[in-house]
Amino acid sequence: MPKVIAMAGKGGTGKTTISALLINYMLHNKLTPILAVDADANANLNELLNMDVELTLGEIRRDLKGDIPAHITRDQFMEMKVHQALIEATGFDLLVMGQPDGPGCYCAANQHLAMTMDKLADNYKYILVDNEAGMEHLSRMNLRSIDVLLVISDPSARGILTAKRISELTKPLAIEIKEKHLIVNRTPDPLPAELYAKIEETTESTDLPLAGILSSSDKLIQQELSGESYLNLPEDAAVIQQAYEIFSKIIK
Ligand SMILES: Nc1ncnc2c1ncn2[C@@H]1O[C@H](COP(=O)(O)OP(=O)(O)O)[C@@H](O)[C@H]1O
Ligand SMILES: [Mg+2]
Repeated sequence: MPKVIAMAGKGGTGKTTISALLINYMLHNKLTPILAVDADANANLNELLNMDVELTLGEIRRDLKGDIPAHITRDQFMEMKVHQALIEATGFDLLVMGQPDGPGCYCAANQHLAMTMDKLADNYKYILVDNEAGMEHLSRMNLRSIDVLLVISDPSARGILTAKRISELTKPLAIEIKEKHLIVNRTPDPLPAELYAKIEETTESTDLPLAGILSSSDKLIQQELSGESYLNLPEDAAVIQQAYEIFSKIIK
């Protein structure tokens, strides 16, 4: 069974950025093979990794509702399409969920998808899910448990309380969450002592332990603007060092 790592947090807090940095870390430490799943309707993890998306699971589910070629079953069709949608790279593959369900019933399509995902998951040691705040794709992927939920927050007391609330949205999903950690992202560099005290004070009053703090980084902004992959960030960049230190404590 692969180990499942999922992101949670409000839009714009840094889930996709931290997903890309985590893939960088895992490749560096040979924690592979990884299935990276972009589960945001406005997929953009591929952009940070400089990969092109041709087919999303949303499109496949829509196709499955209509006519499919006569000589294959719906399961075979689903499996074939999912393999087409997998974007392969060294050490990891990327799968993009795409748009959520439109009107009409997707129950059958979702059942086929769940079966295909089960089979696919066996090929990987890790599954990394870059989620949107609503986490509606999590149940669709047929994941029974999440080993590590990384909740990302902006550096404010209110942001941290929001992160805690979002992490609780997983409760009705009937998915067991084994560990939860908070990462506070985009803190001013250097970090004012008052802000650090506030972060500690807020996390102590929640059941969300603080895994670490990632500073605001001009390097990341430049990398995003240039369109160069986050996998090529230099190892000695401050943001990489900081990210590696956080991940080394939580991903084994
Ligand atoms: N540590 C950071 N330093 C500088 N910019 C950051 C940092 N983390 C995220 N950003 C920027 O903030 C924006 C939102 O981040 P993103 O990862 O897309 O958030 P989310 O996936 O949670 O919506 C992006 O433009 C990203 O480059
Ligand atoms: Mg995102």
